[in-house]
Amino acid sequence: MERYVIKGGKALKGVVPIYGAKNAALALIAAAILTEEPVIINNLPDVSDINVLLEAISQIGAGVERLSRHQVRIVGATVNSHQVNYDYISKIRASYYLLGALLGRFHEAEVAMPGGCVIGARPIDQHIKGFEALGAKVSLTNGQIKAKAEKLRGNHIYFDVVTVGATINIMLAAAMAEGNTVIENPAKEPHVVDLANMLNSMGANIRGAGTDVIRIKGVPRLHKTEYTVIPDQIEAGTFMFAAAVTGGEITVANVIPKHLESITSKLVEIGCDVIEYDEAVTVRALGTLKATQVKTLPYPGFPTDMQPQITTALALAKGSSTVTESIFENRFKYVAELARMGAKIKVEGNTAIISGVKTLTGARVSAPDLRAGAALVLAGMRAEGTTIIDDIKYIQRGYEAFDEKLRGLGADIVKEDYDEEMRTEKIG
Ligand code: UD1
Repeated sequence: MERYVIKGGKALKGVVPIYGAKNAALALIAAAILTEEPVIINNLPDVSDINVLLEAISQIGAGVERLSRHQVRIVGATVNSHQVNYDYISKIRASYYLLGALLGRFHEAEVAMPGGCVIGARPIDQHIKGFEALGAKVSLTNGQIKAKAEKLRGNHIYFDVVTVGATINIMLAAAMAEGNTVIENPAKEPHVVDLANMLNSMGANIRGAGTDVIRIKGVPRLHKTEYTVIPDQIEAGTFMFAAAVTGGEITVANVIPKHLESITSKLVEIGCDVIEYDEAVTVRALGTLKATQVKTLPYPGFPTDMQPQITTALALAKGSSTVTESIFENRFKYVAELARMGAKIKVEGNTAIISGVKTLTGARVSAPDLRAGAALVLAGMRAEGTTIIDDIKYIQRGYEAFDEKLRGLGADIVKEDYDEEMRTEKIG
């Protein structure tokens, strides 16, 4: 297994290029199998979640060829199975996008039911409601969700909660349904818009993505395309907060500043200077951070995927802050790890109450999930002494070359192998 060893205390400085958005790329890979023709996706991040989904589509027969580290060619013509193996869904939840894609193309799909995960129960009732509205019969047996339809027909779908996953799944299923589909109360995240743009470049007719209503006119078939994934808003936000946490100055390059607005405005509120350029944003810490209140919300609100990073910054701010998590019910597990580094945070229900401390101290901690893992790395960058972060496989799910990029900004971080048994012995 691999871990990071960080010697903290250095203010990070420099320019860091941001790669393609993992969460957008997952949807685009599923969309690629809606057509028999070849689809080329550029700016694909080389992270484990993406590689698992590419394996999943290759297991059902799709041609997958990496043209380079960040470019893939997918050919859906050879897809010969509508059944996605449990192994994939257990490794990566977003494999359930293949439910929407296979249903859309073949009117039949079978994918293992995703379980809850470390951040919450994560039901999929809205996905099922949407598929049924399009005319599919959906059943759950032996842990498998089966969706089947004679014909998919457009319909009016209202989501009871704002959900990125269901919005994407229904767009995939409805792109080639007969007639018109209207999705009310959809998610407006940049990757929902990115999926609509890619599908439209394949011949779909989708309007309104990014607004309160998405309108889809079904088309009989989709065709080839070459498409470039948008920059990763959360990777960018993580580096922007790295500047705040370490008292440094970081420019995130190759970004769309508009997608970063909620992050930028919180950084300004806590006392950082933020300069926006056409395709870059510079964040400069201006001394001790200030306390604030934050609530996570669907886009354009402050993203839940940035919640651990802002909590880490506020752990070092002067005064008392609160962070309220309104998307997932169990997303504060990492707080216990931050506390081991000296943070003073009390969690009451879905709110973290933070009393800022002057500094953190290095400790051995474990990454409980992807974004919390990244936040612990930021904490380690700032902490006095050495921080060891175990279980970095979670971080590697969504951050490509994270340690390399941090070293480029002056961080003292190395990745090393360690023996799980040794760890148990030492801790136990
Ligand atoms: C996506 C992102 C994830 C991000 C999250 C919220 C991907 C691959 N993942 O996850 O990084 O943290 O959006 O921005 O893009 N819900 C229901 N019923 C449903 C579906 C969802 O009640 O059928 C609830 C969920 O439990 C959660 C909320 O709706 O409380 C939002 O979930 P959703 O937007 O669907 O998150 P994901 O798509 O899983």
